Amino acid sequence: MASGKAHRIACIGAGNVGASAAQYCAEMELGEVILTDIVEGFPQGKALDLTQAGPIRGYGSVVKGTNDYADIAGADVCIVTAGLARKPGMTRLDLLQKNGEIISGICENIAKYAPDSVVIIVTNPLDVMAYVAFQKLGFPEQRVVGMAGCLDSARLRAFVAMELNVNMKNVDTMVLGSHGDDMVPLPQYTTVSGIPITKLMPQDRIDSLVERTRKGGGEIVALLKTGSAYYAPGASAARMAQAIVRDEKQLLPCSAHMTGQYGLNDVYIGAPVILGKDGVENILELELSDDERSALHNSAGEVRTGIDGLKELGVLS
Ligand code: NAI
Ligand code: 2OP
Repeated sequence: MASGKAHRIACIGAGNVGASAAQYCAEMELGEVILTDIVEGFPQGKALDLTQAGPIRGYGSVVKGTNDYADIAGADVCIVTAGLARKPGMTRLDLLQKNGEIISGICENIAKYAPDSVVIIVTNPLDVMAYVAFQKLGFPEQRVVGMAGCLDSARLRAFVAMELNVNMKNVDTMVLGSHGDDMVPLPQYTTVSGIPITKLMPQDRIDSLVERTRKGGGEIVALLKTGSAYYAPGASAARMAQAIVRDEKQLLPCSAHMTGQYGLNDVYIGAPVILGKDGVENILELELSDDERSALHNSAGEVRTGIDGLKELGVLS
């Protein structure tokens, strides 16, 4: 990551998640925020709106909107949320292909204009898209990371706090695996001010909160009816950008490239990582039960199926 100058954060995709991420980055004054989208006027309008919120919200961040990738030049962090949602009649494979092609095109531009950046992928299917970005960018694996675990663990934290009527800030947890129904929430690493939740609620309640977390994205889609969650996803991506630009060495669950950790190789999957100025500076290996380890491998198997699908379609070689 470039240093010795004001930071720049490029939000590629100015839709719901991208604009929310931009808003949180601006509010935290992480640096200049560049919103990019293919729709003309859309990122410019959102950037102007976010700029005008500054005097009221008390931030002075510069927020710019553009349709020209040259404007992301020198970005320290790129948050990629561009993509399509699954539409009626579209198969999972169709979506994989469309978003795989979109991510591939965006990566060409990131490699050209922001070759020193750390890239945070948000577009779904998350772990497969992070792998596509890693392959297409040609960046060291440390500089390509996926956002999912921050969101999934925030959801579990919120559910635990709601169940026990405690402050969410007292709840800590860890969620591994892929982003979706196969994720692996870890109750054994879930605590309230250091007290394991196994001492605070019965197993059937824990099981129910774990299940609600796995289905957390779908619960919001069912309520919204059009579109999916964006406040918590935007906040999660901005949290990761903060850890990177401020070199915080934060331990956060993120989708990272496995090179033998947990017995997994050449796949992107959620794991606890140390996030700092160089991106994924370390991947921690937690002690897992046999069931948790097999759930993690099952989850990685699903990601591999997606990667293989993209190879068959010629999006990945
Ligand atoms: P949205 O539809 O509101 O925004 C997507 C934006 O991407 C649109 O503004 C569209 O014009 C833009 N876009 C499409 N192709 C582009 C291209 N080639 N270059 C630049 N921009 C392009 O969707 P939303 O709600 O913001 O979600 C974005 C993505 O994030 C989806 O794939 C969604 O499934 C995913 N997501 C992932 C989460 C995670 O935990 N990883 C959580 C929430 C959403
Ligand atoms: C979510 O978990 C849809 O991945 C998105 O909200």
